[in-house]
Amino acid sequence: MRVLVTGGAGYIGSVTTAMLLGAGHDVTVLDDLSTGHRDAVPDRARFVEADVRAAGDVLARERFDAVMHFAARSLVGDSVADPADYWHTNVGGTTALLDAVRAHGVGRFVFSSTAAVYGDPAAIPIRETSETRPTNPYGASKLAVDHMIGSYATAYGLAAVSLRYFNVAGAHAGLGERHARETHLIPLVLEVARGLREHIVIHGTDWDTPDGTCIRDYIHIADLARAHLLALDAAVPGRHEVCNLGNGTGFSVREVVDTARQVTGHPIPSREGPRRAGDPAVLVAAAEHAAEFLGWRPELPDLAGIIADAWAFHSAPGTPADTAPGER
Ligand code: UFG
Repeated sequence: MRVLVTGGAGYIGSVTTAMLLGAGHDVTVLDDLSTGHRDAVPDRARFVEADVRAAGDVLARERFDAVMHFAARSLVGDSVADPADYWHTNVGGTTALLDAVRAHGVGRFVFSSTAAVYGDPAAIPIRETSETRPTNPYGASKLAVDHMIGSYATAYGLAAVSLRYFNVAGAHAGLGERHARETHLIPLVLEVARGLREHIVIHGTDWDTPDGTCIRDYIHIADLARAHLLALDAAVPGRHEVCNLGNGTGFSVREVVDTARQVTGHPIPSREGPRRAGDPAVLVAAAEHAAEFLGWRPELPDLAGIIADAWAFHSAPGTPADTAPGER
């Protein structure tokens, strides 16, 4: 298929682009490089440097079978402190993109949604039918887009899939997570192991969990990206399917830090800090629908393996991650 990947210079978008190319698809990446990296875009993909709102220009020039939409603002804490960009980019950007998709007759749409739409869930594991009450503007903006896509599918016949990611980590094909200002747990813990930080701060130790720290469902980037290729094939015209993507097992912040100590052999000092605004206590996926609808099952669920792959990416000399933090 001919696929336009928005946000294909970012972590998840670039790995998915590499997999799409490997599977024989023809890929164009559109990214404004506001948080992505030009050198993360695989060589065989065409690259357009532009805002997602300009995607219509690309879709007008040539015919595409599908759009995969990753371009977004994606940090929970930032979205609480400065929500405007989250509404403008995530909701405004996707509105413009969906209108272009409709205007130019693109049939398939795969969207990068999030577990943050569920907020503080009443029951664990979380199903797609669970109540959606986001606790931060990031989750709220992604939920608004999920609703928007659903209505476009029903009214205009779009074949659409929203994939609700739990906590993505690890690396694949030399591509990993590198943000100019890192806020995610696993890369930060590995920065301590690389000697770039003194310690990791644990955001809250008084949560209602067995060890008092937040629990998350960590999923390998390769498993996550693979689900996008399956979604491309599984999408049905006029339907909007929503699939959670997680392993169904939760690990606390302390367990992640301990596992990283074992993987890296570094003591990784930690300090206890206050809760972070917008964080839910526990997010663990029920991913049966992804198994049924996509035929997807995680192949790399082991937390130590996920962290080991991230560690290999971050600690290899000369890799792009070697320039982090603070550089793009
Ligand atoms: N954490 C710390 N110290 C840190 C960084 C994080 O204790 O220095 C904690 C957080 O408070 C949280 C856990 O580690 O409890 C995981 O935090 P991340 O920032 O790595 O990830 P989030 O759970 O906040 O968010 C991620 C994605 C979201 C997605 C969510 C779904 O960034 O896009 O997972 O589970 F919505």
